[in-house]
This record gives sequence, C-alpha cells and structure tokens, in this order.
Amino acid sequence: MYNFSYYNPTRIVFGQGRIAEISQHIPANARVLITYGGKSAEKYGTLAEVRQALGERYVVEFGGIEANPHYETLMKATQLAKENHVDYLLAVGGGSVVDGTKFIAAAYYHENVWDHWVNKTPITQALPMGCVMTLPATGSEMNATSVVSHIASGAKVGFNHPLLFPQFAVLDPEKSYTLPARQVANGVVDAFVHVIEQYLTFPVYGKVQDRFAEGLLLTLLEEGPKALTQPENYDVRATLTWCATLALNGLIGAGVPQDWATHRIGHQLTSLYGLDHAQTLAVLLPSLLYVQRNNKHEKLLQYATRIWQITEGDDETRISQAIAKTRDFFEHMGIKTRMRDYGLPPDAVEAIIHNLKVFNLLPQGERQDIDEVMAREILTLSY
Ligand code: NZQ
Ligand code: ZN
Repeated sequence: MYNFSYYNPTRIVFGQGRIAEISQHIPANARVLITYGGKSAEKYGTLAEVRQALGERYVVEFGGIEANPHYETLMKATQLAKENHVDYLLAVGGGSVVDGTKFIAAAYYHENVWDHWVNKTPITQALPMGCVMTLPATGSEMNATSVVSHIASGAKVGFNHPLLFPQFAVLDPEKSYTLPARQVANGVVDAFVHVIEQYLTFPVYGKVQDRFAEGLLLTLLEEGPKALTQPENYDVRATLTWCATLALNGLIGAGVPQDWATHRIGHQLTSLYGLDHAQTLAVLLPSLLYVQRNNKHEKLLQYATRIWQITEGDDETRISQAIAKTRDFFEHMGIKTRMRDYGLPPDAVEAIIHNLKVFNLLPQGERQDIDEVMAREILTLSY
C-alpha cells in the first residue's frame, strides 16, 4: 500500500426530512447565496424547504446553473454574491450545481479563478459552503473536486483543493424519487466507474481498499436496476445514495494507484458533443479496459472472479467476459455504449484526440502510458 494522507471534513446529514436541520450547520447571522440548476429544485419543493429552514437569514438566490456548469454562468453568480456581500453558499441540486458552487466559492476571492482550474495552482481562500444533493452520482457532496466547462475555449476541467469540501451535505434519498430514469442510470454508472478508476489498476496489496471497492460495485450491480423498476423504494435509493458518496469521497482511492483516463477523455466527449457525463464513461470504459488489459491483467482477473463470478476458461477469455458483462450492465441500465449510438460522426475520434493534445491531457492512465496512439485505439474501438 502506498503512503497516504486522508482528510475529509464534510458532515453528512443523511435520511428523510433532514433539510430542516441545515439551520444548525450555517451561522445564524450568515448572508447566504442559494444556488440551483434548472427547474427541478423549485418544482419538487426542495427550494421551499431550504428557504424555510434558513429562517430569518439574509438570502439571495441564483438559479440556472446548467448541467456541466459553465464558467460564464458561474461568474455571473459570483458577481451577485459579491454585490450582496454573501458569506455562505448553499448548493441545492445535482453534481453540476455543487461543482459550480465550489467554483463560485473560489471565484469570490480570486480574480483569475479560471487560471487555477487550468494550471492547478492552489487557491488561498474560498467561501464556506454546504449542499443539499438531489442526484446521487458524482460524490461532489463529500469531495473537494469541481468540474467546470469554459464554453469560449471548449475546455472542461476538474480542479480540487481542500478549501472546496462542502462543510455539510444533506442527503435525503427521497429527493431522488423525482429523477428521470436517464439521470438515475447516469448516477449508477458514474458511481460504478468512479470505483473502477480507483480499483481496476494494478495490485499494491490494498486489500481493504479492494474489498470496499468490490462491496460498492456489487451493491451498485444489485440495486441499480431496482431503482429503475421501483423508483420509490426508499431502501434502494438510500443504498445508492450512500454508494455514490463513498465511491468518490477519497476513501477507496487512498493508498492505491488511480487511473482516471476514462473520465479525462470522457470530458472531451461532453464538451465537444454534449453527451451526459455518464454516457461518456459507458462509451469509453469497455474499450479502455480492453486496450489496457495487459497493464490491468491481475486486477481484471480479480474483477472477473469477485464481481462477475467468472471462473472458467483461460485468462484472456475471463477478462473478455468481464469486460463484456460490464458493457451489458451499462446497456441494461439504459445507457448506450458506442459513440455511433449517440450520432457522433466518425471524425469524432480525431476531434477528441485534438482536444486531448490542445488541453495537454496526455499521457493518461495509472502508468501514464496512454499516449496519442493508445488514446486513438481506445476511441476507435469505442466508436
Ligand atoms: O437543472 P435541474 O432542473 O436541477 O435538473 C437536473 C439536471 O437536468 C436534474 N436533476 C437533479 N436533481 C434532480 C433532477 N431532476 C429531478 N429530480 C431531482 N431530484 O438532473 C440533471 C442532471 O444534473 P447534473 O447535476 O448535471 O448531473 P450530475 O449530478 O450527474 O453532475 C454531472 C456533473 O458533475 C461532474 C460532471 O463532469 C458533470 O459536470 N462531475 C463531478 C465530479 C466531482 N465533483 O467529483 C466527479 C464526476 O466524475 C463528474 O466529472
Ligand atoms: Zn464521474
């Protein structure tokens, strides 16, 4: 196991009817900016609950943070925060709203905030924030990462810094009942791939991390399909909500190698062609596992045995079956796994390669061996 430092200060407030308690976690004299996305938070009553819970505090609101939040929109929110001398941010929505709010928290104190996202230079200050997460998927509620899209340049960039951890996160599984099936599936697949990116690399005797990761994968496989057929099954939603948080709160990735190539390449499919984040992962992961099967040989066999109970046949056969079953699971959740399924043109492969070069995103992978040639191979297989 590698050396590691693990730090996670986010308080989780989990369960039904917990929004009322946010008042206990925000200073009584705070000047609060509530941030939200499109219509869902208002339509399903979450905003009303939040407003009530905040009581007499000074509150301003900024709505309209889009999926894959835009730098341009977030700068407008930052302006509003400054004009109102806000000192606390409260995000109400999915990963895009929470990520966007982390960006506002940093932009409040940094004139050239985008430079920090692009160049990964540490920020020095950020507004405190909390969140009410309505979409179990990204893990953003309990991590310090924020992914933002800069429309003018076509970049979609992730940044993390400990100042960006939410102070608290309300996770009410009932809030996910209103999600359309597509977003339910996206959430399950995103969490699944988060686990894979931290698990399916090479062994370093990370036995605790492996067993945690395998527990999350098996749970997502069991419960994910149920969320589609039984949308108001509380136990299923609660289980998926906690899975999504644990998949990317730093726990399972501590002390082990991590990959993230599927995510970084996937972000280009979103910025160029507007695919949902999880759709990009479902398209890329099976091909990436195939192309990286030698590097990932031992862990792929472990994955085949422990997750898919594949014990017959030679190594190559078992690995191929495990990859095929992974693809089948994504399809079973209703997420297509080929670029052409989304109507992308054949020259998408080269357009994505171009982006990876322009934004300096190569090499990738836990061994940093996914260069232009290998990335092209992965993309061609994904088409
Ligand atoms: O905008 P509204 O009207 O709220 O609708 C949203 C949006 O259209 C809707 N929604 C959210 N909660 C709902 C709901 N609809 C009905 N009922 C509810 N309870 O769902 C749609 C998608 O929301 P979005 O927040 O975009 O989805 P998600 O949570 O999947 O977030 C995706 C973003 O997170 C980034 C992605 O790149 C993408 O930009 N990621 C962030 C990570 C992190 N911070 O650690 C890691 C991830 O790998 C990912 O990259
Ligand atoms: Zn993700």
